[in-house]
This record gives sequence, C-alpha cells and structure tokens, in this order.
Amino acid sequence: LSENRVLIYIFGASGDLAHRKLYPALFNLYRKGYIKDHFTVIGTARREWTNEYYRNNVLKSLEELPGSFNQKFSFIQHFHYQSHDVTDSKHYDTLRELGESLDRVYETQGNRIFYMAMAPEFFSTIAEHIKSQNLLSDTGYNRIIIEKPFGRDYETAKALNDSISKAFDEKQIYRIDHYLGKEMVLGLLPIRFSNPMFEQVWNRKFIDNIQITLFEALGVEDRAEYYDHTGALRDMVQNHIIQILALLTLDKPEKLTAEALRAQKEKLYEALRIYPIKEVAKKFVRGQYGSSDIPEHEPAYRSETKVDPNSKMETFVAGEINIDNDQWRGVPIYIRTGKRMPEKQTRVDIVFKASDQIFDKPADKTIITIDIEPTEGISLLINGKKIGLTTDPVGYQLSYHHSAEQLAEVLDAYERLILDVIKGEATNFSHWHELEATWHFIDVIREYWDNNAPTDFPNYKSGTNGPEAADQLLKQSGRSWVYNP
Ligand code: BG6
Repeated sequence: LSENRVLIYIFGASGDLAHRKLYPALFNLYRKGYIKDHFTVIGTARREWTNEYYRNNVLKSLEELPGSFNQKFSFIQHFHYQSHDVTDSKHYDTLRELGESLDRVYETQGNRIFYMAMAPEFFSTIAEHIKSQNLLSDTGYNRIIIEKPFGRDYETAKALNDSISKAFDEKQIYRIDHYLGKEMVLGLLPIRFSNPMFEQVWNRKFIDNIQITLFEALGVEDRAEYYDHTGALRDMVQNHIIQILALLTLDKPEKLTAEALRAQKEKLYEALRIYPIKEVAKKFVRGQYGSSDIPEHEPAYRSETKVDPNSKMETFVAGEINIDNDQWRGVPIYIRTGKRMPEKQTRVDIVFKASDQIFDKPADKTIITIDIEPTEGISLLINGKKIGLTTDPVGYQLSYHHSAEQLAEVLDAYERLILDVIKGEATNFSHWHELEATWHFIDVIREYWDNNAPTDFPNYKSGTNGPEAADQLLKQSGRSWVYNP
C-alpha cells in the first residue's frame, strides 16, 4: 500500500455527518494503512472548542470500531480544531495559516481536500472564501467534496454549482452519492458487461420491466428539519435511485474510465422521458406513513419530533420511469422508496418476457434479482423441469451472496469514496450534467405535487409496503412487484 499525503479541511466538524460517517471512515482508512503519518485534518465549526475537546469528540465516534486504544489515540493526534464563522473573511486567513503550518509539519505536499459537511446554504459562501482568501494550494491538488442535497431543484442546484465553480473547476468537484460506493451498486457493471448471456438480452426485446426498490425500516429519526422540507422524491429518487437506474440501463462504455462512463450516463439521461405535467399523476404515487398498529412504538410521520403536524411531505414514492431510446423504449422501470417499510431492503429485479409457450403449464417469468442490502449478491429465477412424470416447467432459484466474513474487511461506501477523492478517481461521483438532467426530471413531479396537495395523507401504515396506489401502478398493465414482503 502506498501512503497518501493529504490535508483535509472539514467544514461542519461538530456535526452529525462528520461524527457518524467521516471520522469512522477516516479511521478505517488509517487502520488499513491508506493514510498514515502524513495526513492531517482541520476541523472547523462555529463552536469554540479546544483541540483536546475536538479530539475527544472524534475519539467518541470510534467507540464501536475495531482497533486498539493506542491506535485510536495516535489517530486523533492528527486532528486540529479551529472555530470559524463562515461569513467572516478573517477566519479564512486563520484557516489558511493553520493549513500552511500543518502542511509543513505533516509534509502533505500541498494536497488539500475541502469537505463540505454542513448545511448546504453555506456551501457557496465557503467555496467563494476558499478562493478569495487563497486557501487553495499551488503545490498539490485542491479538491472539494460536496454532500447532498445538491440544491432543491434545478434553479438552486445551478446557483450552487455556479458559485462553487468560481473557485473549483469541474474536475476538482466531487459530489458524493454514497450509493455509488456500495459494493453491489459497483457490482452492476461487472454483472452486466462481463456475462455474455446477460449482455445479449439486456434490452427491450427480452426484458419486460425493471424494478428498483429502496426500502427503509427506519422513520424520519431526528432529521425532520431537513426531511420535512425535502421529502422522499428529492432525498432518494433524484440521486440514489436515478444513479442505480443509469447503471442498469446505460450503453456499454468503451472502458471503465470516469470520462467514458459519464459520457454514457449523459447519453442515457438525454433519453429519460420528462413527463408533461398532466401525466405525473398517472406515473407517480406518493405516500406518508401513519402510525403502526402499535402507535406507541411507531408514531405517524406527523407526530414525529419537529415534523409539521399538518405536513404534506411524502415519505414514500413509487413511479414508472421510461427511457426513450432503441434499447429501452416500452420497458417500464418501476421505482419505489419509503420510510417505515416492513424491513430494510435495497434491490433490483429484472423481469424477463415470457418465452413462447410450448408446455401445457405456462412457465414462470425469468427474473434476475440483485441484492444490494442488507444481503449482497445475485439470484436468478429460471425455469427447469418439475421432477417426476411430467414436462411441466417449474422455477429454480440459483443464488450467490457474499458472506459476512468476506464483507467484513471490505471498505464501506464512505471509506471507498473518500479514498477515491484522495486518489483523484472521479468515476463514482456525479457530474454537473447528470444533476442538471435529474433535476429537470424531478422538478416536473415536484411542481405537480406542490400544486396539488395530497388529500389522503397519511395513506399507509407504518411497517407496510406503502399505499395501495403503488400496487395499482403495476396492476394496470397486468404486472406486480416481485418483492412483496
Ligand atoms: C440518505 C438519505 O441519502 O440515504 C436518508 O438522506 C436515507 O434519508 C439514507 O436514510 C439511506 O442510506 P443507506 O445507506 O442506509 O441505505
């Protein structure tokens, strides 16, 4: 392993994301040797903290992780804290000076990452100050990591992008979609493009429909301030679901480079049908969870802490997406995501058309299921002969799943993506053109929904599959969800 040298500025160092995801991810990279002696972190936030207080805070976030106390203790010595008011230019001068001196101490060779792990309304201000107060290094690389939400719609995303672009060019901007770091999401291209028997049939001639399900068992938790202004469409569909959809449907890139993959994604997004507003109600369904049958266990969304008691925000979305190109015309891609579903389940089902029948009993549909979470693997439902004195076809289930031991030492999504940024590997990040396209797609649905408030919320019980209308969406064309817990 070659050691990576880097100085990381974390804006939002006292926040939830840093605590839950970034510090543990950095520690695991340290434990596994990807970063060692020559890395340092400058954490900034509004609060007045000492280095010692900050380091203890980082240490606490590592409690559950493997690794000795000594190792954790040496790790936190790399962390430095500087309180910071994002709108005050002088504070950036302090950050610059601290960066320059730590760069010398840790010999990071001027490599800088700026991690935006705070409320998005400050991203632009910070990016502009990074430039005006000259925090960018001349000797190493400068890269910025942006967490979602990247805007609320096309207009706000564009404004944000324009201001970040004043300080960073597109190649330096890493927009994180953590689903793109998940093992089985990364596994979609190898499954598609290294199996001739899949490659040949991955099109409208053979595929009847595709189903993408992102179910969560959890509710809104303590994120209502964000979620009640965002909703499931922006929170999960605009990014994670459309990214998975793209990987499932894009044309084969010539090589697996960031440029080649982006070019194919962009081509795919051009073919994504943007619905005229009057069609939205036919193609998309929304839901909001009510209480479960045991209300004290799971309150209705509207009774959750900090949620507006009359909230019209959706916690569930199902929809049909169409791609207007020769490969996919006429193949509905059904998507579904919701909070307080029966269980956590992220998966893709590819449903094939039935073969011409020659048997007395019709065969089942052939289905490829790709399990993304909580199990990670693939299964095929194919037809074989029922045993005994008959020629009737019957379903055979073939499956492969990675074992827990195999997965234990694999880098998780955040670790992998942060390491990608350190290495300058942009393949698994979203390009601005992708965001443009996805927001245009989402904005029409949002506009229709905002102008037509739901009258039936809450419309599904906590712990169920969502509203009845999500089943109707498929039933109207004689189809049904493969995954139906
Ligand atoms: C985030 C959403 O992007 O993804 C959350 O903001 C959601 O609302 C989370 O809970 C789900 O991620 P994962 O990795 O747990 O499937």
